[in-house]
Amino acid sequence: MRTIKSFVRRTGRKTSGQHSAINQLWSEYGVNFSKKKLNFYSLYRNNFPIHLEIGFGNGEALIASAESNTDKNYLGIEVYDSGIGSCLIKAKKKQINNIKICSGDARDVLEVQIADKSLERINIYFPDPWPKKRHHKRRLIQKDFLRLCASKLKKTGQLHIATDWNNYAEHIIEIIEKNTDFIVSKHLKHNGKIKLERPTTKFEKKGLKKGHFIWDWVLTKIS
Ligand SMILES: C[S@@+](CC[C@H](N)C(=O)[O-])C[C@H]1O[C@@H](n2cnc3c(N)ncnc32)[C@H](O)[C@@H]1O
Repeated sequence: MRTIKSFVRRTGRKTSGQHSAINQLWSEYGVNFSKKKLNFYSLYRNNFPIHLEIGFGNGEALIASAESNTDKNYLGIEVYDSGIGSCLIKAKKKQINNIKICSGDARDVLEVQIADKSLERINIYFPDPWPKKRHHKRRLIQKDFLRLCASKLKKTGQLHIATDWNNYAEHIIEIIEKNTDFIVSKHLKHNGKIKLERPTTKFEKKGLKKGHFIWDWVLTKIS
């Protein structure tokens, strides 16, 4: 069991719509935790590349990406039940069939369920910033986590990270500088007014309203 978690489990805050979406739609979109590696062909019924989003929140970006890239398969991991419920509602409403959802800690799902060298892309948009110094160890982006992501990506696979938190950005820069698995293919600091390759997210919009800058990195696997 991991003692330091990158999240606090929030329970009991689901709306009735989110609750019934989980009950009714989990069998269609959900992937249960098991110790076996996922077989992506049997999950999606095709061999399209797999794009993983970690901590998708309410699923806004995951749904938008899946909708506009029907030649890719999307896998989302989230610990927050009401976010999962919201994402399922959107997926069903838009009749999206290239999305699957895992509920749980992304580090466990990656380690246990995802085969090495099986993903084309991993997206981590606005991970919890844990601004207090004593909580920095809870931040998801750490040296070991980058290594874990690299091991799951195919050759030249990409990891996209975005944050609106200056202090987290400085931390991410330090981690990237020390890493030996990725090179930086793109690095942007912007005010949300430029056209990006990725959809805007709910947390990003909140950050922009507060006047935060946005930092984006696209890392490409080299080893
Ligand atoms: C600040 S929110 C950002 C949500 C969304 N990406 C956005 O930009 O709107 C971070 C999300 O990551 C999720 N999260 C944090 N640690 C996680 C982990 N280890 N595995 C899966 N999800 C995690 C949280 O539950 C939360 O919903």
